[in-house]
Formats: sequence, C-alpha cells, structure tokens
Amino acid sequence: MGESRVLPDGSILRYNFVERMIHWVAGASYVYLLLTGLALWTPWLYWLAVMLGGGGVSRTLHPWVGLLFMAAVLRMYQLWGKEMRITDVDREWNKALRHYTRNEDQNLPPVERFNAGQKYLFWLMYWGGVVLTITGVVMWIPEYIPWSLRFLLHLSVLLHAIAALLTIGGFIIHVYMGTAVVRGGFRSVIRGEVSQGWAKMHHRLWLARITGNGPTKR
Ligand code: HEM
Repeated sequence: MGESRVLPDGSILRYNFVERMIHWVAGASYVYLLLTGLALWTPWLYWLAVMLGGGGVSRTLHPWVGLLFMAAVLRMYQLWGKEMRITDVDREWNKALRHYTRNEDQNLPPVERFNAGQKYLFWLMYWGGVVLTITGVVMWIPEYIPWSLRFLLHLSVLLHAIAALLTIGGFIIHVYMGTAVVRGGFRSVIRGEVSQGWAKMHHRLWLARITGNGPTKR
C-alpha cells in the first residue's frame, strides 16, 4: 500500500517516490510497446519502427520491454492491489457516472483513494498485461511449441491483438482523464502531492481517512 499522508505544508502526499517511478516505468514502456507493436502489426505503420531504430531493433526489444512493463504492473499490483478492489462505494459511484462525464465531481458520492473508473483502468491494464505477456511469450519462442499444439500460436496472435486494442482504449481514456479533465492529477504523478482542496473534491473519503477527520457527508 502507498503511504498517503499530510505533508508539513498542509498538502497531501498522493504518490510516493517509488509509486511515481513505477508508474513512469509502466508509462514509458507502454508507449514504446504501443509504437513498436503497431509497427509490427501493419506495414502501414512500419515507419514507426524505422523512427525507433529500425525493424530489427524494434522486433528484438519489443518482447523485452514487454517483460519490463509486466514487471512494473506486478509491482503496481503489490502497491495498489488492495486499494483497487471494487467496493459498494464504487457501485454507488457507477450509478452517478453521468456527473463524472460532465466533470461535476461535487455531485458524486465521496470515494476513497481511487474512484471506480481508475480501478477499472487498473484491472484492465493488469489482466490485459497478463494476456499480452503470456501470448507474447508464446509468439516469442514458437520453436518450443509442439506441432500438435500449433493452434496455441494462432490463438496467441489473435488474443495479443485483442488485448492490445483493449488496453489502447483504456490508455487513451486514462491519459485524457489524467491530463485534460482532472486538473492537478498530473502534478501528483510528477511531484507526488495534491492540495487538500483537490483531495476533497475528488477523493473525500481518502482525505477524511488520512487527516483523521472521519467521513465527510456530501
Ligand atoms: C504515458 C502516459 C501516461 C500518463 C500521462 C498518465 C497519467 C496519470 C495520472 C495523471 C495519474 C494520476 C491520476 C490521479 O491520481 O488522479 C495516473 C495514475 C495512474 N496511472 Fe497513469 N499515465 C500514463 C500511463 C499509464 C500506463 C501505461 C499505465 C498502465 C499500467 C498507467 C496506470 C496508472 C494507474 C493504475 C494509476 C493510478 C490510478 C489512476 O489514476 O488510474 N498509467 N496516471
């Protein structure tokens, strides 16, 4: 679990140094995988591989960077897994989703450190990462797949593409929400801290827990 706390200047530590580093290892490796993966997927996007050092370099590094991404996601699971479990608060929050899409967070039920949308993103990246890694390894070492199990190779090609497309969808929404919609969120994955006002607006139960003020009503 992360160690959220009130800092001496009154702001709140949302992501500590390790959490921020792991997030950016996942972020940078995902972007590399996205670009090289798209280049390997279709000749129309091969120019991406050319810009990243050539087809050979991209083909060699893609699986290794994939392992790095999965390692970062597993570390994220260790750090945040417990706080990402779906609770009754999330189910209530889901019902009020239209306020979230209109950026009216003040009308949403108060939530803990992560809202339901953030949790779904986490589980999408986690399970997407598991499927991408397993199917990626099968395609990486096809010579070890016995002839009688050849269908696993074809299945892996299909599942790898499906899992990639699903995570790309999640990634686009995540980056859009984290940078353009929820102002102040980006600063928290760079500097670590958020203001009490931000925490109150977006994660009221979390703020109440770490300041010890008890849950605040809407
Ligand atoms: C490379 C572009 C990325 C950007 C600009 C970005 C941005 C952000 C921001 C601003 C936050 C803080 C949100 C908040 O606490 O309110 C965050 C958190 C998080 N990021 Fe990213 N991120 C990126 C890539 C990724 C990738 C590839 C993953 C995949 C594992 C990821 C997983 C998460 C998770 C699980 C959290 C915590 C919960 C959440 O806010 O969704 N991020 N990110």
